Amino acid sequence: MAGKIFESDVLVIGSGLAGLLYSLKIARSRSVNIITKGTVTESSTSRAQGGIATVIGENDSFDSHVADTIRVGAGLCHSDVVKSIVASGPRIVQELTNLGVKFCKDSDDNEYDLGLEGGHSKRRVLHVKDHTGRDIEQTLTERVSEAPNITVFENHMGVNLYVRNNQVFGAYVLDDNMGDVERFSSRITVLATGGTGRVFLYTSNPDVATGDGIAMAYRAGASIVNMEMVQFHPTLLYHTKIRSFLITEALRGEGAILKGHDGRRFMPDYHPDAELAPRDIVARAIDNELKKTGADHVWLDISFKDTDFIVERFPAIYEKCLEAGIDITQEPIPVVPAAHYVMGGVRADINGRTDVNGLFAIGETACTGFHGANRLASNSLLETSVSALNAAQQLDAELERLGPPIEIPPWDPGAATDPDELVVVSHMWDEIRRLMANYVGIVRSSKRLIRARNRIGFLAREIGTFYWDFKVTRDLLELRNIATVAELIIRMARMRRESRGAHFNKDYPSLANEAVDTLVRKGYEPVIQA
Ligand code: SIN
Repeated sequence: MAGKIFESDVLVIGSGLAGLLYSLKIARSRSVNIITKGTVTESSTSRAQGGIATVIGENDSFDSHVADTIRVGAGLCHSDVVKSIVASGPRIVQELTNLGVKFCKDSDDNEYDLGLEGGHSKRRVLHVKDHTGRDIEQTLTERVSEAPNITVFENHMGVNLYVRNNQVFGAYVLDDNMGDVERFSSRITVLATGGTGRVFLYTSNPDVATGDGIAMAYRAGASIVNMEMVQFHPTLLYHTKIRSFLITEALRGEGAILKGHDGRRFMPDYHPDAELAPRDIVARAIDNELKKTGADHVWLDISFKDTDFIVERFPAIYEKCLEAGIDITQEPIPVVPAAHYVMGGVRADINGRTDVNGLFAIGETACTGFHGANRLASNSLLETSVSALNAAQQLDAELERLGPPIEIPPWDPGAATDPDELVVVSHMWDEIRRLMANYVGIVRSSKRLIRARNRIGFLAREIGTFYWDFKVTRDLLELRNIATVAELIIRMARMRRESRGAHFNKDYPSLANEAVDTLVRKGYEPVIQA
């Protein structure tokens, strides 16, 4: 059977801030198909609690935001990219406000209420209480539902991009409702699939964060950079039943302190900025405390602040913790670090353009060089929005440059049969996530990375056999993608013979003389680039 074919000027894969904002900006004149694996609002954006870092305050400056981003990025940021994105901040706030996002204002003077987070030398995080991402996602979803020319396909997952002569013409897509693979033909394809947190056992990311865009781009021949740079958020709620719930860094911005089981505040031992040190330092300090004491979590305490303030400023965290039996106004919160954000990704410029024609990558899927080796808190919504607007602005010129589409041939399932033992897929999922947590976590070593490489090599070969022998399902596709992403992270972690930002290898504990990007492209020798 030939399978259905859907055509549009642009195919957007993913429905977080990146995909929705980009689509809204082009929909007046161009047709857009958005595919999303789950429902529209299931995205990393929805979980962003902190906010969007932007220079708004009178005593702040672009130079200061640029300097903080570069310092926290541990020498790996591309400074031209940083300057350009930071300078676009006020435009982004205006854009999101026009779309209907209501950032919190101070009731006294009606000025924006600016939050403080680790690594920032000034208060500059615009937020909607502690559920900024949820509000942004809901607002954009409403605008998309009213927009002309946008069709959203829920429960649809990209299988592979269709590439000819280094140009992408759309994708094969699994309709998870029907179990069929369909063709989505487009002149431009935008990867906006978010991050890769699900590659690790413990993560703040939603279930959908399986690095699909990065894996598809890699298979299509795009350059992938700096995948070893995985940021671990220091404070995820530690609870047996409530999984993946973040406790925003903004709590520490408002004075919350980290304590061990002996009640002692330990962060001043590690960094002069204590709880507000860059995230990689706080995560490693907690990891060290856990290893030293054998405890399974540390405590984050804000209970000494005024109860009304806590409930008003952090309503979502207050409610969620109450559900878990913890009253944060009275007692400390048990927390652990967990995989949160990948600084690496598909190499893209600040217009989202990759090195494959017709293929764009925006948001966490992309690596523009903005975050360097360690992302400054609340800088990701900013980068995503700037890339989305820039890419939208470039669209007409890009379409002119690329010429007409070509027809995608029907999907060939070969001799694939229904899988007889789906439970094996979940076993392999579990194996990968555990090996990444055990061998490629916050503190790495060369021996552990070799162990990880050997194991992932074996699993990837097995998964390849599964992929060819059995009809594709969402679980199987996600498994194939997390295996690819895990392989990329391990490979690039082995290429980096130093410790920098989020990548710490005990066998190379210092910075190398030169800051370089690691780069892998299918069919080419891996390189490190100054
Ligand atoms: C947080 O609120 O702590 C997370 C925000 C971010 O990752 O930038």
